[in-house]
Amino acid sequence: MMQKIFSGIQPSGTITLGNYIGAMRQFVELQEQYDCYFCIVDQHAITVPQEKKELKKQIRSLAALYVAVGLDPEKVTLFIQSEVPAHAQAGWMLQCSTYMGELERMTQFKDKSEGKASVSAGLFTYPSLQAADILLYQTDLVPVGEDQKQHIELTRDLAERFNNKYNNIFTIPDIRVPEVGARIMSLQDPTKKMSKSDENQKAVIRLLDDPKQLEKKIKSAVTDSEGVIRYDKENKPGVSNLLTIYSILTGRSIDDIVQSYEGKGYGDFKGDLAKVVVDYFTPIQERYHELINSDELDAILDRGAEKANFVANKMVRKMEKALGLGRH
Ligand code: TYM
Repeated sequence: MMQKIFSGIQPSGTITLGNYIGAMRQFVELQEQYDCYFCIVDQHAITVPQEKKELKKQIRSLAALYVAVGLDPEKVTLFIQSEVPAHAQAGWMLQCSTYMGELERMTQFKDKSEGKASVSAGLFTYPSLQAADILLYQTDLVPVGEDQKQHIELTRDLAERFNNKYNNIFTIPDIRVPEVGARIMSLQDPTKKMSKSDENQKAVIRLLDDPKQLEKKIKSAVTDSEGVIRYDKENKPGVSNLLTIYSILTGRSIDDIVQSYEGKGYGDFKGDLAKVVVDYFTPIQERYHELINSDELDAILDRGAEKANFVANKMVRKMEKALGLGRH
């Protein structure tokens, strides 16, 4: 039997180049060898306030982008989390096996709650729901960016705990983080990761930005005053981040790119990178616009939900049985 993959992305803003490089690009690469489930995790998105019209729009937009970047809906299962109630059911059961101390240690929770006057309980228990997402599908491998490592480690702990305490029903998933590009940085503060929810729009490259916006953002990316194009993550985080992006999108090695810019300045380098990004995004955006208002997209999501419900419901029954819930 084919090994299984699960991963999810929150529809909490338009997909960034970080999401693409850290996560989606891996999904496309892995879809041939694995039985893949890719989810639009809308229930995760409501752990922080969302505007309902905008959320609905972003859910559909993410679905279209999954296909536009090259996922083949004939091969992979694409679905919306809230259309598969088993996630919330399993999330609850796993919450009851999660310790408060474990959740308190999660850096995503610390970052997202820092300085907020009120924080939802959902934001705190978020990792238990994420564990449910993964464990429902007997997942072998979870492709994600570096920032999700801690959540996947907790998922493994929860699966082992449940298996030992109740019944041996869960597969223990492995994490897969890309060797290069696991953490794409903000264009405005290259010591911070590029984030969908960054308030500074200039800091974030989005897959649906138009060529003018892309050029403007890349040209105003923060670098340094040395004026030399070379890779040095410590001392030149801005230039190094741009070199990483350049290398991944062109398939050229960083050394090769550095050599070809010897004696040239940041202006040339950024101008060329803008062109690389625009050329890379153009076919993705074209496919996106064909899909976004199509019935085809609804058909894909209907089929995905049906398949995911079938698989996930079976696991929920096993969990309930293991815990002694209900009558049967
Ligand atoms: P989210 O929506 O924040 O991010 C989606 C994916 O993109 C990766 N990523 C990045 N990779 C490289 N550089 C960056 N700057 C960057 N920013 C984001 C993330 O690591 C992730 O792989 N909790 C998850 C969603 C989730 C999930 C799951 C993931 C819910 N259930 C089950 C895997 C399995 C999240 O907030 O991702």
